[in-house]
Amino acid sequence: MSAVLDYLKNNQQRFVNDLCEYVRFPSVSAQPNHKKDLQAAAEWLQERCRSIGLDTRLAPTPGNPVVVARTPRKTGNSRPHFVVYGHYDVQPPEPFDLWKTPPFEARIEGNKLFGRGACDNKGQHLAHINAVEAYLKTGTELPCDLTFVIEGEEEVGSGNLAAFLKNSREELRCDGVVISDTGMPAAGLPALTYALRGIIALEVKLIGPSRDLHSGIFGGSVENPAMALCQLLAKLRDDRGRILIPGLYDDVLPLTKYERQQLARLPFSERDYRRFMGVPELFGERGFTSWEQRTARPTLEINGLTSGYQGAGSKTIVPSWASAKLTLRLVANQKPAKVLSLVKRRLKQLCPPTVRMQIVGGHGGAPYLVSPTSPYAQAALRALHAAFEVEPVLLREGGSIPILDDFKRILRVDTLLVGLALPDDNAHSPNEKFDLGNYAAGMRMGALLWPELAAAYRA
Ligand code: BES
Ligand code: MN
Repeated sequence: MSAVLDYLKNNQQRFVNDLCEYVRFPSVSAQPNHKKDLQAAAEWLQERCRSIGLDTRLAPTPGNPVVVARTPRKTGNSRPHFVVYGHYDVQPPEPFDLWKTPPFEARIEGNKLFGRGACDNKGQHLAHINAVEAYLKTGTELPCDLTFVIEGEEEVGSGNLAAFLKNSREELRCDGVVISDTGMPAAGLPALTYALRGIIALEVKLIGPSRDLHSGIFGGSVENPAMALCQLLAKLRDDRGRILIPGLYDDVLPLTKYERQQLARLPFSERDYRRFMGVPELFGERGFTSWEQRTARPTLEINGLTSGYQGAGSKTIVPSWASAKLTLRLVANQKPAKVLSLVKRRLKQLCPPTVRMQIVGGHGGAPYLVSPTSPYAQAALRALHAAFEVEPVLLREGGSIPILDDFKRILRVDTLLVGLALPDDNAHSPNEKFDLGNYAAGMRMGALLWPELAAAYRA
C-alpha cells in the first residue's frame, strides 16, 4: 500500500493537469449544442482509462454514451466486485457574467481548481481512477475487481441509465456500488452519506388569451395568466415552506431520535450559513433545524418562472400564458409517482376556470436511505478516516442521485456515498471549484477503500 500512496503523492501535479484537461470539455448535457463536447469528453475519459491499463468501451445509449472501464480480471479465485459510478456531464454554466474567469478554462488559484464540473463530478470520479492507476502502475495487486461506469446524463435525470444497467446486468453483477458525488459538511471533515432526497420535476403552464392583449383595453375583463399562476403557486406552500398539498406528508418517515442527535452534532453556525448564502434571514419549516430542513424534509421549489414581456423598458400587455418549472425534493419512503399524482391533482383543483392548464411531467427519482452500520459502511468509514486523518461523520444530504434506486432494483446492491465536495464548492452555481487537497485525499481514500471493502466481504 505504501507504494500506491507514494505513487499518488509523486504524481499529484500530473493528476491536476489531467483534471484541467478534462474540465475543459464543455460537456453540458442540458444543451443540445454541446452534444459533440459530451462525446469528446467521453472519448477523452475512455482513453485516460485505457492508458492506465483498464479494459474500456463506450456503451452507446439513445443519448450520451456510458464509459465502461474494467480492471484486468484474474481467472480462478473469485474476488469481490465493486462498481464505481460517476458522471462526465455537467450543469449549464450560465450566468456567464458571474464567473471570475470562463467556466471551461480550468483555472488554478491557490489550492483550488475553478471550472464547471470540477467537483460535480469530474474531479471526484477522476480521483478514484487515479487511485486505481496507482495500483496498476506500481504492480500492486487490487484485492477486488472494479468496473467504472461513468455516464453522461446525470444532470438531466439519467433517463437512459436504467436500460443500460438492465442490458449489462451480467457484466455489472457486483457486491456494491461506490460513488463520490456528494459533499462533506466542512473542510477537513469527511463524511459517509447514508441518505439522499428524491426528486420530481414538472412544468405547469397557464394559458389565457390566444395572444398578448393590450392591458388597458382588455385588462380587467380577462384573467392575467401570470397573476393567476402566482396566486396558484402561492397556495402550494405556507410562508415557512410547509407544503399545502393534501397527502404529501403521509408517507414521510420521521427522523429517529438517534439521527436527530447525530445531525445536531454537525458543525453549524447560523450566522455563517446566512452570510454564505447572502440572505438577510434564514427560512424553513418550524420545528426542524437547518440540517434537518435541507436533508430530511420534503420541499417544493420554483426553479424558473416565465411570462410576459422580459425586455427593456415596459410593455403594457396581458400575457397570453405563464409557466413555472417546479421540483419537489422527497424523503425516505415517499414514492415519486404517487407524489406527482398528488401534485397534479392539487394543481387541477386550484386552477381557475378562466385559464387552461397544461402540466408536463419531467424526470424523477426515489429517495435513498441505507444502513450506516453495515460492514461495508464501517469499511468505508475506516478508509475515510485513514485518508483524511479525521474521524468521519454520518450524513444525510439534500441533493438527489436518482440512479441509486436503479442500482438497488436492477443490480440488487447498496451504494456507498463517499463525497468530496465542500459546501462552498459552488456546485450548479457560478465559480464552481474543486479543492485540490480533497482531490489528493480522495485519491488516498480511493486507494485505501478496496482492501477495507474486500476484508469486509470476506468477514
Ligand atoms: N452530485 C449531485 C447530487 C448531490 C449533491 C447529492 C450534493 C448530495 C449532495 C448531482 O450531480 C445532482 O446535482 N443531482 C441533481 C439530480 C437531478 C438533476 C435529477 C440534483 O440533485 O439536483
Ligand atoms: Mn449536479
